[in-house]
Amino acid sequence: MATAVITGGTDGIGRALATAYLERGHHVLVVGTNPAKGEAFRADAHRRGAGERAHFLAADLGLVAENRRLIAHVAAHHPAVDVLVLGARYHRSTRAETADGLESNFALYYLSRHLLSHGLLPQLRRTASPVVLNFGGAGLAGPVRWDDLQLRRDYPGTGALGHGGALCDLLAAHLAHLHPDVPQVVNHPGVVATSFAGEYDRATAAHVDRLRVQGRPVTEAVAQILPHLDAPAAPLTAVLEGRRVRTDTPAFDPAAALRLHTATERLLAELPAAAGPSGRPA
Ligand SMILES: NC(=O)c1ccc[n+]([C@@H]2O[C@H](COP(=O)([O-])OP(=O)(O)OC[C@H]3O[C@@H](n4cnc5c(N)ncnc54)[C@H](OP(=O)(O)O)[C@@H]3O)[C@@H](O)[C@H]2O)c1
Repeated sequence: MATAVITGGTDGIGRALATAYLERGHHVLVVGTNPAKGEAFRADAHRRGAGERAHFLAADLGLVAENRRLIAHVAAHHPAVDVLVLGARYHRSTRAETADGLESNFALYYLSRHLLSHGLLPQLRRTASPVVLNFGGAGLAGPVRWDDLQLRRDYPGTGALGHGGALCDLLAAHLAHLHPDVPQVVNHPGVVATSFAGEYDRATAAHVDRLRVQGRPVTEAVAQILPHLDAPAAPLTAVLEGRRVRTDTPAFDPAAALRLHTATERLLAELPAAAGPSGRPA
C-alpha cells in the first residue's frame, strides 16, 4: 500500500492533499504542531472508513532535532514513502529566532525541507514512482539574499515567506540534479483560502483576513497539483497555479543551488552538537 508523508498536513492545502491521498487508499502521515488538529484528521479519516491508514505525528519542524526525529519515525514506521509533501509554514511579521538560534521562516520554510527531502531519500527510493512536492516560489520569488540568508537586516515581513520560496526553488533544483530518480515538483498555488498560520501585525492581519475569504478553495489548488504529482514531466517540474513554468531560469540555477546546499550543510555542521530534542542544549 502506498504512503504519503505530509508536513503541514493538519491544515490548508496539506490537509486537503492528505484527504485526497486517503481517498486513493494511501497510508497518510500528517505532521503539525497541534495535536487537536491531528486528532481531527484521524477522526475524519475514521468516518471515511480510513482510520487505520491515517497517522499523525506532533512535531515542531522549526527545530532541527524535531526534523531528525520525524526522519527516524518514518524510517521505523513507514519504510517506503511514495509521496513527500513539504508544506509546513508559519509566518511572523516580526523577526523571531528558534531555540536553535535560527530565523524562524528560514528554519521552518527552508531548513526543515532541506533536512527532510535529503533525510527521507532512502524511503523514497524504495518505491517505484516517488515524488516530492515542495511549495516554493516556482520562479516567482527572489532574489536570494546571499549575504543575509536569515534576514537579520531589514526583515521583510511577508516577504520572508517569498525568500523561503526562493530557497526552496534552489533546494528542489539541487535535489533534481543529484537525484533525478526522485522527481521534485515545486508548486506556487496562487492565493488559496487556508488558515494562513502565523502571527501578524495589525495591517497584515487585516490583509490576511481578506485572503482567507477571497482565496481559491483548497480543493481547486489540490486538483491543479495532483496531475503533476501523478506523472512528473521531468526530474524538476515547476508549477504556478496549475500551469507548468520553465526551470531553465536563474531561480533554478544549478550553481546557485550548489552554493545554497554548501552554505546549508556548513550551517548544520556548525550548530551545537548537544542540541536536545527541544533544540536547546541538553
Ligand atoms: N495559502 C496560500 O495562499 C499560499 C500561497 C502561496 C504559497 N502557499 C504555500 O502552500 C503551503 C501550504 O500553505 P497553506 O496556506 O495551505 O498552510 P496553512 O493553512 O497556513 O497551514 C500551515 C501548516 O503548517 C503547519 N505548521 C505550522 N508551524 C509548524 C511547525 N513549527 N512545525 C510543523 N508544522 C507546522 C500547521 O500545522 P499546526 O497548526 O498543526 O502546527 C499547518 O498544518 C505553504 O508552504 C505555503 O507557503 C500557500
